[in-house]
Amino acid sequence: MKKINFLGFFLFSYFIATGQNATIKSSIKDVESKVDSVLALMTIQEKVGQLVQYNGSWDLTGPASEMNNKQKEENLKAGKVGAMLNVLSVEATREAQKLVMENSRLKIPLMFGYDVIHGYTTIFPVPLAETASWDLEAMERTAEIAALESAANGINWTFSPMIDVSRDARWGRIMEGSGEDPYLTSKVGVAKIKGYQSEDLSNPQSIAATAKHFAGYGFAEAGRDYNTVNVGDNELHNSILPPFKAAAKAGVATFMNAFNEIDGIPATGHKVLLRDILKKKWNWDGFVVSDWGSIPEMVAHGFARDKSHAAKIALNAGSDMDMEGGAYESSLVDLVKEGEVSQDDINDAVKRVLRVKFKLGLFENPYLYSNPDLLEKIPFEEHTAVARDVARKSIVLLKNEDNLLPIKESVKKIAVIGPLANDKDTPIGNWRAQGEANSAVSLLEGLKNSIDEDVDISYAKGADLAIGERSFLMPLKINETDTSGFAEAIRIASQADLVIMALGEDAFQTGEGRSQVNIGLAGVQQELLKAIHKVNKNIALVLINGRPLEISWASENIPAIVEAWILGSQSGNAIADVLLGDYNPSGKLPVSFPRAVGQEPLYYNQKSTGRPSNPVHVTYSGYTDQKKDALYPFGYGLSYTTFEYGNLKLSKEELIPGNPIEVSVELSNTGDKRGKEIVQLYIRDLVASTTRPVKELKGFKPVILNPGETKTVTFELSEPMLRFYNANETWESEAGKFEVFIGSNSRDLKKATFSLEK
Ligand code: BGC
Repeated sequence: MKKINFLGFFLFSYFIATGQNATIKSSIKDVESKVDSVLALMTIQEKVGQLVQYNGSWDLTGPASEMNNKQKEENLKAGKVGAMLNVLSVEATREAQKLVMENSRLKIPLMFGYDVIHGYTTIFPVPLAETASWDLEAMERTAEIAALESAANGINWTFSPMIDVSRDARWGRIMEGSGEDPYLTSKVGVAKIKGYQSEDLSNPQSIAATAKHFAGYGFAEAGRDYNTVNVGDNELHNSILPPFKAAAKAGVATFMNAFNEIDGIPATGHKVLLRDILKKKWNWDGFVVSDWGSIPEMVAHGFARDKSHAAKIALNAGSDMDMEGGAYESSLVDLVKEGEVSQDDINDAVKRVLRVKFKLGLFENPYLYSNPDLLEKIPFEEHTAVARDVARKSIVLLKNEDNLLPIKESVKKIAVIGPLANDKDTPIGNWRAQGEANSAVSLLEGLKNSIDEDVDISYAKGADLAIGERSFLMPLKINETDTSGFAEAIRIASQADLVIMALGEDAFQTGEGRSQVNIGLAGVQQELLKAIHKVNKNIALVLINGRPLEISWASENIPAIVEAWILGSQSGNAIADVLLGDYNPSGKLPVSFPRAVGQEPLYYNQKSTGRPSNPVHVTYSGYTDQKKDALYPFGYGLSYTTFEYGNLKLSKEELIPGNPIEVSVELSNTGDKRGKEIVQLYIRDLVASTTRPVKELKGFKPVILNPGETKTVTFELSEPMLRFYNANETWESEAGKFEVFIGSNSRDLKKATFSLEK
């Protein structure tokens, strides 16, 4: 991976530490008065400085500033920078902080941000995968661990969670979010924020979180990254904004702009979103950071004439900090002098930044997060155990004909085949922070670690997935032709009792700028699968990937399919736990798997048309050459045991505000293994002032049952759950008839009806 380091230059810059900020500290009591007292001391240049963020090192995710390092260093010393990103390690952050603390007039500490997306050193499943666990506690815990490992390395701010609802498997960044459902995404976002930030941001083991990308990024046209988003108010408020509203309510420290425009207005210059909704309506007091260069990018959008115009638009709209865009630093002071940007708006932006810095405890101790002792105390072994546990909880069993899995004792010869079977790097995924290359437990290693000694395991790669250099920056070159490894794979497969095939995507096939028009098994993988299938039908296909894949052929022909995603450091051990039955799979899909890529965007919570398909007109509102629904729907996932749902019981059929209904169902484990089922609750509002989805997730509960055991699972249905952004342009419920559904996925559900009386 290409690294661009410039922070080495900081190392020579030692200065004698002074008693920083003694006057500021002693004269102030609560955060707001502290913020005001600092603001009162600041010149306009110093204020603008707080709104500037510089890149330090690591991979660039966009065009880098042309400014040289020497100039950046001078600007840091002059207090013209408020935050940095990609400055990694205790030493580097300490040196950068020293430049500010020992040279600038007001000694306002820097914040250090980084993309800690699914772990810092210990790598957890990518967010889409982790969401498949539907285990909010586990997701909070992995964020807490990521925060601890980051904080011990000088980082006090992560650009996570990404809570962009995304419905399009072509979009490479679908792996960074929680899938297609606003309710589930909201829950996961809040769990992540709690984990990163803890109760108290000044706890040196927790870090500031970022709700990103505000807003609409996941709705880019045709899944093309950064592209135009054309949604109206109804979609914006009901499908895109709810996770952001939940994040603001949960006290997330910062928001990040999105690169896209929404209905003609770039999100970075979107006053309605930033000022009217986020800051006024939601009353949120953190700060908004731009996405990398998204302020000057408004020039390319055709929304700003030049950098200065872009700075004016962004600041006036409510974007508080310019990430590596160079627009605020070059123009804001003049714009204020010219009256194009008001002092009040600048003050508001600066106060927001200072507020977060105070909350982080940086004014008390600017080196709070640059403490080498913290690193010594990290319980890496414990973190590894958590990584294995959450990884196995994230696995989704898609198919298991004749109970091919878990692997039976009679199986004595296993052939492990596929380009990803012994790949130690792909499970680390994209956005890997400081996860070491090739450090994951591969599937082959995991199996060997756990399987009985009398089982013979042979391995053949069969084919390469990618050729040449793989990196965050370069598009991947897929192997489309080389099948020279097939013969050996076929040979070992024909002698085995069971074949385990690991196919899917390379780590760098998903992530930023990684959109694809084909979402099948890339390169020669499908050909390999078919060739092996010819000689041995007992195949358990393990998918390692970051987006929903088009796997119709496999779904029809391969008896067992395990969706193992990109699972992180403990990938192979976690998959082995599932294949061997040491963990009974319990994951459920957070996103629909299509039958064909042409169905994208595909999501369960669609609207009905005026001509829904029916037994006579099956192609209505669908296709003539393919079914309309998902191959594997949202919420879907099997277990090694079976669950049966009884009929729904409602405590009453009329819901009155303030007087909830209870809806319950009997759930039985009808198989022969203990297992966990994620019981899901959906509703449908049958008639409303703006049309409502055919189903909407409104609750879920994990239920663990022993074989033969039955439990009653009860949900409360209350009026606030029925609210939506309606024709009055406000969140409210509307009286009328509703359907309520409970079941094991968004397709297989028991139904009842009730009405809301108002
Ligand atoms: C991405 C953000 C990320 C930022 C900083 C951008 O290109 O869109 O999600 O946080 O870079 O690395």
